[in-house]
Amino acid sequence: MVTPSPDDYAPATQVVALGRPDRGPGAPLNVPPVFTSTYEADGPVNYARAGNPTWTALEDAVGALEGGSALAFASGMAAVSAVLSLVPAGGTVVAPFAAYNGVVVSLTEAAEAGRLTVRWVDVTDSEGVEAALPGADLLWLESPTNPLLSLADLPRLVGSAREAGVLVAVDNTFATPLLQRPLELGADISVHSATKYLSGHSDVILGVTVSRTGEGGPELHARLARHRLLGGAIPGPMESWLVLRGLRTLALRLERACANAAELAARLEGHPAVTRVRYPGLGAIVSIETVGGAEGAERVCAAVRLWSHSTSLGGVESQLERRRRQPGEPASTPDELIRLSVGVEDVEDLWRDLSQALDHAAR
Ligand SMILES: Cc1ncc(COP(=O)(O)O)c(C=O)c1O
Repeated sequence: MVTPSPDDYAPATQVVALGRPDRGPGAPLNVPPVFTSTYEADGPVNYARAGNPTWTALEDAVGALEGGSALAFASGMAAVSAVLSLVPAGGTVVAPFAAYNGVVVSLTEAAEAGRLTVRWVDVTDSEGVEAALPGADLLWLESPTNPLLSLADLPRLVGSAREAGVLVAVDNTFATPLLQRPLELGADISVHSATKYLSGHSDVILGVTVSRTGEGGPELHARLARHRLLGGAIPGPMESWLVLRGLRTLALRLERACANAAELAARLEGHPAVTRVRYPGLGAIVSIETVGGAEGAERVCAAVRLWSHSTSLGGVESQLERRRRQPGEPASTPDELIRLSVGVEDVEDLWRDLSQALDHAAR
């Protein structure tokens, strides 16, 4: 597999060059989706729940981008579950109360079942997070958070967790490794819903963990791999191939989407139907609150023609959704909050459609 060193190439080159087959006369440029459930005996892998060459190509690429050792999973939530499996029975997790609802619900139900204790924190309150660390087993961070787009002081919090001997995982889905590399800040694990930006075309569900290298790194990787092997939440070869294919254009897509998001965030500030714009200046998600409460926000979502009224984010297609529609969405998300996942379309077309839809909020 071609794995250029991160020092040799810029990230925009890495997304194109990594995870390719070895070069040679007649060699294909791409690793194909390898459809097999098993392998001839006495090779490095004997059964396809343990390994697949298409996963390996994707893992090599994402691992090099994040600066660690990657594992692909059946979904972002499967990757999250693998990380949570590192918490011992009866252990303690420090986690944001305002984060992706799948993580919040998962932790809440695990706590209700008595499997672990959760200390809920506000990731923007660094002192509060630090006060929750003593004796904890895992610090779970998300930055920017979904959907409030709060930013955590990652260098500080990662440093404090390490000092306290607490394992720290960062959900890097919104930022992508092109905008933020948690392992470089000292985090143990970076987690992605590759369903979003890494694949980028709203056509696949897949997750990735990237664990740090160095002391204790191989053990961490081995524990996550064992969870995948025995839990069985493995990605399909076709899905892995689709994510690798999508990754090739990540830099291009993200550049355009971020520019569109910055422009729309600025224009939204001046729209009379918008009462609040949340845009952290990082990434391509913008959250807005509108006049007319939840019903007004629903009217906006129903009135778009170019934007897609759908859940999820990170695709080339611009999408929007009132988040409190989702069961399990934390109460910290305002009822009328609409999350905009800004895509790569022409920004004037996006604005025209969005501003006419916003005119329906007050009716
Ligand atoms: C920040 C974040 N993390 C994790 C997930 C879960 O990923 P998946 O839907 O691929 O299981 C999501 C899904 O929306 C997400 O937004």
